[in-house]
Amino acid sequence: SRRIVITGAASGIGLALYRQVKAAGDIPIGLDRQQGEGCDLVCDLTDAAAIAATVEKLDAPLAGLALVAGVPGTAPIATILAVNIHAPRLLTEALLPKLRKGAAIVAVSSITALRCDASAEELDRMLSFAPDQLAAACQNRDGKAAYELSKALLNRWATLQTFELSDKHIRINTVSPGPVETPILADFEASIGTEKIAAAARIAGRHGRPDEIAASVAFLLSDAASWVNGTDLKVDGGYHAKRLGPVR
Ligand code: NAI
Repeated sequence: SRRIVITGAASGIGLALYRQVKAAGDIPIGLDRQQGEGCDLVCDLTDAAAIAATVEKLDAPLAGLALVAGVPGTAPIATILAVNIHAPRLLTEALLPKLRKGAAIVAVSSITALRCDASAEELDRMLSFAPDQLAAACQNRDGKAAYELSKALLNRWATLQTFELSDKHIRINTVSPGPVETPILADFEASIGTEKIAAAARIAGRHGRPDEIAASVAFLLSDAASWVNGTDLKVDGGYHAKRLGPVR
């Protein structure tokens, strides 16, 4: 059985994934700042020292890493950046020696990344910033814009990691959900607006369920996705198509 590290495993999408990995006969190792089902190791992902200490406790070889933990635009800007972009990078870098050849990484992004106005060049520049520099660059952004940027940076970083990880033939992909029924949906309504969140449900007639996002993450972590690398899978009931096709 495969050992798979899952961040944000104590709630929502991460917990759904934790349960699915276990049910499939694999071994999930859940990281979260809050205790409960799904949390095997308490770790505050805004704390670089805590991340390093947690990585120390994990034994090789690991077959997968699911970067699910994230905070919405209602959180302080520094926390949004720390959890949504800095932590995935720190954890991936620190865990790399323990990931086996051919392992898979999946980061949970968001379709709101599509709304981010930064170009690929700007994103690349921001990815070279130290945390305080990036926070300073976000000074004029509200929480919603900082969230969108954090997820756009996550997508860009994951794309670039495709090459960085090729030495060990590690695959990396992102999953971009639309609104999902988890405890933070109300926070998204507050930061993004109830109208946009309601509009996202109109195509499919409802919001997503945590297990529907988890199933896509589990697929990308599995050998069934062995030739899927460097891509983003939108799991949003079709909402993103509104941006591409005729709007009804
Ligand atoms: P959730 O709030 O149910 O779960 C997030 C988990 O991350 C929680 O257990 C929380 O304790 C953990 N976490 C947050 N900050 C942490 C920290 N500093 N250290 C350690 N753990 C921390 O939220 P949900 O909905 O399951 O979100 C999972 C991912 O999905 C996030 O990255 C989120 O941005 C993304 N997403 C969610 C959507 C939704 O509508 N629920 C839509 C699009 C993306």
